[in-house]
Amino acid sequence: MPQLFADRPVIGPECEITNASFGAYVEIARGTRLSNVEIGDYSYCDRICDIANARIGKFANIASFTRIGPTDHPLTTATTHHFTYRSHYYWPDEPDDEAHFARRAARLAHIGHDTWIGHNAVVKPEVMIGDGAVVASGSIVTKDVAPYSIVGGNPARPIRDRQPAAIADRLIALAWWDWSHEALRTALPDFRSLPAEAFLEKYEG
Ligand SMILES: CC(C)(COP(=O)(O)OP(=O)(O)OC[C@H]1O[C@@H](n2cnc3c(N)ncnc32)[C@H](O)[C@@H]1OP(=O)(O)O)[C@@H](O)C(=O)NCCC(=O)NCCS
Repeated sequence: MPQLFADRPVIGPECEITNASFGAYVEIARGTRLSNVEIGDYSYCDRICDIANARIGKFANIASFTRIGPTDHPLTTATTHHFTYRSHYYWPDEPDDEAHFARRAARLAHIGHDTWIGHNAVVKPEVMIGDGAVVASGSIVTKDVAPYSIVGGNPARPIRDRQPAAIADRLIALAWWDWSHEALRTALPDFRSLPAEAFLEKYEG
């Protein structure tokens, strides 16, 4: 694991990055492709992820081989083939279908703060993963995921709560993900050892 930095992301080899912005202490591991993505402070993805048209909060843990926002081909026209929109590949004087790309780019997936997206998961465009939620490895997430819930399978269904609703609401209100780097360091022993409810009792105003 490398040292991470407040002022720039750590990006591994052979990443392909187009139109992306990064918060502090972000790591993007080797072989990952990002396109039209905003990634919040302390979030990271492990190797060979493919993330498009997504807004990712702070402290997201994205495991290897995850795909977020796999783009859709046309379904209602005569063909699904991409010659209809990547037309210049085939006829250099034919412009691409920019309206198609604009529609795709607008279909944002949202990944909340303190989320954990398990190995090899897929999160569809326009899906919203709530703060604190967990997506089990290998899941195909087709619908929004409630905060602090755990979902899994294909299609992903609720497995159980990560935290009961009352604790989840208090964690969201505490919004520890907005604390300063120094405050996080000070609270590190409590993040490590306290159950969530005891942590809330200590830090709620
Ligand atoms: C989702 C997860 C956190 C649940 O952990 P857990 O609570 O210990 O899970 P359990 O093994 O007790 O299983 C609980 C239930 O969820 C189901 N389940 C667990 N993992 C699942 C998965 N990946 N897909 C579908 N269902 C899954 C189990 O079959 C079980 O169902 P049942 O109650 O009907 O028998 C874990 O299974 C997981 O996927 N972790 C991600 C690991 C990963 O990707 N790591 C990469 C490094 S970051």
